[in-house]
Amino acid sequence: MAAKNINILGTGAYVPERVLTNEDLEKIVDTSSTWIMERTGIRERRIAAPDEDIVTMGVAAARLALAAAGLEARQLSYIILATNSPNYLYPAAAIRVQDALGLNGVIGAFDLQAGCCGFNYALYVAERLVAQEGKYALVIGSDANSRFTDWTNRSTCILFGDGAGAVVVGPAQKGRIVTSFIASSLNMNLHCETEFNQEVSPFLPPQTHTERHFLTMDGPEVFKFAVGAVKESIRRIMETTQLNREDLDFLILHQANWRILDAGARFAKVPMEKVFVNVDRYGNTSAASVPIALHEAVQEGKIKEGDKVLLVSFGAGATWGAALIEWGK
Ligand code: UT7
Repeated sequence: MAAKNINILGTGAYVPERVLTNEDLEKIVDTSSTWIMERTGIRERRIAAPDEDIVTMGVAAARLALAAAGLEARQLSYIILATNSPNYLYPAAAIRVQDALGLNGVIGAFDLQAGCCGFNYALYVAERLVAQEGKYALVIGSDANSRFTDWTNRSTCILFGDGAGAVVVGPAQKGRIVTSFIASSLNMNLHCETEFNQEVSPFLPPQTHTERHFLTMDGPEVFKFAVGAVKESIRRIMETTQLNREDLDFLILHQANWRILDAGARFAKVPMEKVFVNVDRYGNTSAASVPIALHEAVQEGKIKEGDKVLLVSFGAGATWGAALIEWGK
């Protein structure tokens, strides 16, 4: 039976233990802690251990989200995992999560790739699946960016970190996902090319450029896009809901750069106390960024029942999107 109100019922997050500080980076590339703090607001980030990956981190976050929702894994009908750093092209990481949760053969699980906006995309899909079928979906954002980072490139290696966040989406008694949208437009300013086996293929010219499988970014261009995408997302949600920007109680923005958070907050006319910031501790964790921030905001009691919480993200693709949540379950 179709459910009327769909909402986020529980959140979870996991970050690796290993901390990489700006001072540590000073020993790896030609940078300074002061430059990184001033230009990005990042102080440190987490690095996945050799035995961790997007699946182990995703499972840890998922277990917390299920517990917070008061649900057992067997009550799930779908797992959607958003990532940009799969260590296997196939099988899907979501199916490896499904296996870890003991759900082989009983549900459908799939990955979704939409840059750092992946969590918003996955939430958008989950909401619609659940609305149609009245069941529960697990949505995970998990990225091991350190595995795709060029540790000799100071323009990019200072920005990213590893981690996972998860939510359970399902029918709710209180609150709802009020509205959401996803958008995209081809833009190669932030990209990562697959390292397929060009060396041994008789059908392709020999590979000459061995570094291209690292993430590559035109920082200033992506910065301009990011600020524009945040503004456009807020404007679009306000237009759809006929709310005023002052009606927003809390803002969870993709944690890419403190200066982007500041620009988004100013535009939304939301004071910085109502904007969650953890970019200082984790850097940019891509698809994990919004669900980790949401989980920490909930844990810290910054979001209360009935609050209007706006989740906004943007990333490679280019992709952008937002969801307005009336908190409750
Ligand atoms: O989730 C995906 C979305 N990604 C983003 O949102 C990232 C968006 N972009 C940014 O956050 C910023 O563009 C960066 C933080 C990446 C760069 O900051 P910027 O203020 O745009 O710096 P810039 O790239 O224009 O570089 C300014 C200067 C350059 O030196 P010159 O040419 O002025 O002498 C760079 O070489 O800063 C230099 N620089 C650095 N210096 C010390 C670049 N990276 C570093 C560094 N340490 N790590």
